[in-house]
Amino acid sequence: MEKIKVGILGATGMVGQRFVELLQDYPWFEVTELAASERSAGRSYKEALGKRWSLSDKIPENVANIKVKECKPNLDCKIVFSALDSSVAGPIEEEFAKNGYAVFSNSKNHRMDDDVPLLIPEVNVEHLSILKKQKERFGKGFIVTNPNCATIGLVMALKPLDDNFGLKKVFVTTMQALSGAGLAGLSLDIDDNVIPYIDGEEEKVETESMKLLGKIKNDKFSFADIKISAQCNRVNVKDGHLEAVSVELDKKADLGQIKGALKNFNPLKELNLPSAPNPLIVLKEEVDRPQPKHDRSLGNGMAVTVGRIRKCNILDYRFSVLSHNTIRGAAGASILNAELMKFKGYIE
Ligand SMILES: NC(=O)c1ccc[n+]([C@@H]2O[C@H](COP(=O)([O-])OP(=O)(O)OC[C@H]3O[C@@H](n4cnc5c(N)ncnc54)[C@H](OP(=O)(O)O)[C@@H]3O)[C@@H](O)[C@H]2O)c1
Repeated sequence: MEKIKVGILGATGMVGQRFVELLQDYPWFEVTELAASERSAGRSYKEALGKRWSLSDKIPENVANIKVKECKPNLDCKIVFSALDSSVAGPIEEEFAKNGYAVFSNSKNHRMDDDVPLLIPEVNVEHLSILKKQKERFGKGFIVTNPNCATIGLVMALKPLDDNFGLKKVFVTTMQALSGAGLAGLSLDIDDNVIPYIDGEEEKVETESMKLLGKIKNDKFSFADIKISAQCNRVNVKDGHLEAVSVELDKKADLGQIKGALKNFNPLKELNLPSAPNPLIVLKEEVDRPQPKHDRSLGNGMAVTVGRIRKCNILDYRFSVLSHNTIRGAAGASILNAELMKFKGYIE
């Protein structure tokens, strides 16, 4: 198969760098364009980054000398992965879609639009049908988004519980990694500290989850009828968001049934998409797992780890969920969305 040309918008940032890393030697896509702000444009990727490369390996050779461009829709590629700051992402992504590009966005700007799928391939593939409404706005191009990095791990654990037992209420307290705040997160006052506030995060977790777990009825999103309360904290961890979750269910379930529903959840297994992990949900039986440092890279960072499943004294069950925020929660999620849409014939 000839590789599809892809560009990365916001290629110099935390998520942009993760795209670059994940897409090196990648079977379906080839990075041909890198774009960022006018501060970075005009220089090679290596020069534009300077000391800002934040991942452990070196800048991949296939991209180090690509000249960074401005985010204008004249790039030589079919797909753009957007890792743009949300202060600028909205109109730039629309411009690309209007010019026929397939846009896969990490940013919050279009997630709640009534013609934009907020997609997790394992959770709500049927939401892609809303794309026919986007034709009026964009013609051949489109925008598909992935959820906020704290929402995605949570919803992957909630989905099999909702399908099997019905979800009524969810309490979630997050412990979110520094990389979730972008390159700026590396200079937070976090030594010997926890910051109990992340701007807009609780609202995103609460509303995005309802869209993801909802249905499409008469070409409109019908949000899930679940009560969810989120408290979000920034903690001194490099990568990986850990979340403490309590749920109330509609139907009675014993512990074995809860574990079985989580363990068996992997609706994409048969498709063999390059980024899709198997197993999708890794269950940990050790009393002190999952832990970000030790478990965030399971399934190449695309699996979700669940542990400490036990009875809750107030709701029905409680457990811990971990997911890698810049892989499953951002770049990897976008790439999997593109793989699914390629597989389904939306991208030729
Ligand atoms: N970090 C995560 O875990 C995570 C997870 C899910 C979603 N997200 C979302 O993904 C997006 C990127 O996040 P990040 O953490 O990678 O942020 P970041 O490290 O701050 O990177 C922001 C990127 O946006 C570019 N940019 C800023 N102003 C621009 C402008 N005026 N025109 C064009 N490009 C501009 C920057 O380019 P320059 O280097 O040239 O300034 C940089 O490449 C955000 O919308 C964020 O909310 C992040």
